[in-house]
Order: sequence, then C-alpha cells, then structure tokens
Amino acid sequence: MSLKEDVLRLKKEKNAIILAHYYVDGAVQDVADFVGDSYALAKKAKNTDADIIVFAGVKFMGESAKMLNPEKKVLMPDLNADCPMAHMASKAVIKKMKEEYEDLAVVCYINSTAELKTMADICVTSSNAVKIVRSLPNKNIFFIPDGNLGAYVKKQVPEKNIILNDGYCITHKRVTLKDVEKARKEHPNVPIIVHPECVNEVVEATDFAGSTSELIQYTVDNPNKEFVIGTELGVLHEMQLKSPDKTFYPLTDKLICMNMKKVSLEKVYDCLLNETNEVFVDEEVKVMAEKSLDRMLELAK
Ligand code: 13P
Ligand code: SF4
Repeated sequence: MSLKEDVLRLKKEKNAIILAHYYVDGAVQDVADFVGDSYALAKKAKNTDADIIVFAGVKFMGESAKMLNPEKKVLMPDLNADCPMAHMASKAVIKKMKEEYEDLAVVCYINSTAELKTMADICVTSSNAVKIVRSLPNKNIFFIPDGNLGAYVKKQVPEKNIILNDGYCITHKRVTLKDVEKARKEHPNVPIIVHPECVNEVVEATDFAGSTSELIQYTVDNPNKEFVIGTELGVLHEMQLKSPDKTFYPLTDKLICMNMKKVSLEKVYDCLLNETNEVFVDEEVKVMAEKSLDRMLELAK
C-alpha cells in the first residue's frame, strides 16, 4: 500500500478530516478532504462533524480551527510550521493605540497568534478584509499585523482612517518591482497577478491582486492561456488542475514559504496514526480571541 492509500485509510478509520492550504505540497493537497484559502478553511473547520481535524498549514490556522471548533481534536503535521508574520505586532502598541484613538477598531489579519487575536475587535482574511473594514461603524482602524495587506485595504477603503502596522509576510515581501519588469519583458501581454501580501509598489504595477482563491478563480475565468503568478507557488498545483490547458509562470522562484513546505505527506501520516502534535489554546486566550473569529464569519457572509 502506498503512503497516500495509508493516509486515506486512516482518515476513514478515525473519522478524521484533512484540511490543507493551497501553499502546502501538492502531494499533501491530494490527500486532503478540502483545500482552500484561509477563509474557506476557517469555515470548514467550524462546520465539520469529523472527530479529528488534521490541519495541513501553519500554526495560526490550527489554533484558529481549535478556537472555532473546540470540541474537536486538532492535529498539525508539524508544530514548527509557524508563520513569522503572525508574531509581528505588539500588544503594548495595540494598547497605546486604543488609548490614543476614540472609536478605534483593531482589525486583525487571521495570520496572527491567538494571543494577538485577544486584542482584536474582528479578524479578517485576505478575501474578506476590504468588505469587512468597509462595513465597520468605526472611522479609525488599526490593521495588524500585515502592513502590506493593510495598505491594500486602505487604498480600497479611503473613507476610513486606517493606521498601518509594520508586519509583513517574509515570502511575499521577496517580490520586487524588478521581478515584475523582468516578467513583463519575458511574457509580454500576459496578465501578472499577485497576492496583496506583496509590497504596494508591486501590487500597483501588476494586473490583479487577490486572495489565494481569488487568484485561482481569476485564472479559470480569464480567457487568457498564460499567466504570471505572484504568490506562493503551491497554488500552481490547483491552477494547473483547474486549467490543464493553460500555462503558469512563477513571477519569481523566491515565492516559496518554508513553513508551509514543512508539512509533508509522511508527517500527515505520522500525526494521524499516533494522534500527536495536538493543538491546545489556553482557555482564557480562547475565550477572548474566538469572538473576533466568530465576528469575521458573521460579517463575511
Ligand atoms: P489567503 O489564504 O487568505 O490567501 O492567505 C495567504 C497566506 O499567506 C496564508 O498564509
Ligand atoms: Fe506566513 Fe507568508 Fe508563509 Fe503565509 S506565505 S504562512 S503569510 S510567511
């Protein structure tokens, strides 16, 4: 029996569901019950009736799943797969902002620790951030931790006073304007599409920016046969599956998230077999943080 077959068998025996982000290895995506972007995965985690959730992604995703559905056993193939950006905001600074601005909403990208979420009024993901920020009654918004996604939202929602934090995704930050210029020369008339975690000047110089799912959908809906992709290259797996007749060029080969790539099929098998690497969230933290996640699911509907 192959490793893939072993995982599929174990999953059935244990009434487990495997949730995978588009950035993990294709071989892991292939054994998942559901592959999605952060928003779709959070919704799936909340609504599953499986006994075990194996979360093939990074730590904040496993923590969010546990907070959204605390009765479930949430396992992570590699507990060291942690998003550096999730830590890039300071509770002291958030506290200071709250004192300084009346009517402040702390809007927290889901790519953040549970600890940071305890300070948030609401969570967002890249697919619903614009919609949610626009719908908030508050004029003043402190957007944490991603300064790049924050800047993207600020552009789309000019009526709000959006205060930016200086966190960033170490993977998407590697894309430069030079990469865009080079791609334009190598692939003239081919759409260049990027994730809003890229720096603002890159987003501005390209043809479309959107969450992982929005980028995949763009390549399905757009009649073009070629695309230059400016996000973590794991998405090429799904893009190619959805459009086998189309060609996808990486905007740069630097777009690899080393943390997402720590999740392997072997580790999925091991954690499911031994039920190891369980995710726990401190009860006090959970009580304070889950409200911001539930509010996101409510407002994003
Ligand atoms: P989305 O899944 O919301 O597109 O976020 C991308 C990401 O960086 C996940 O870590
Ligand atoms: Fe974090 Fe960026 Fe990796 Fe997503 S791609 S997990 S934001 S480092």
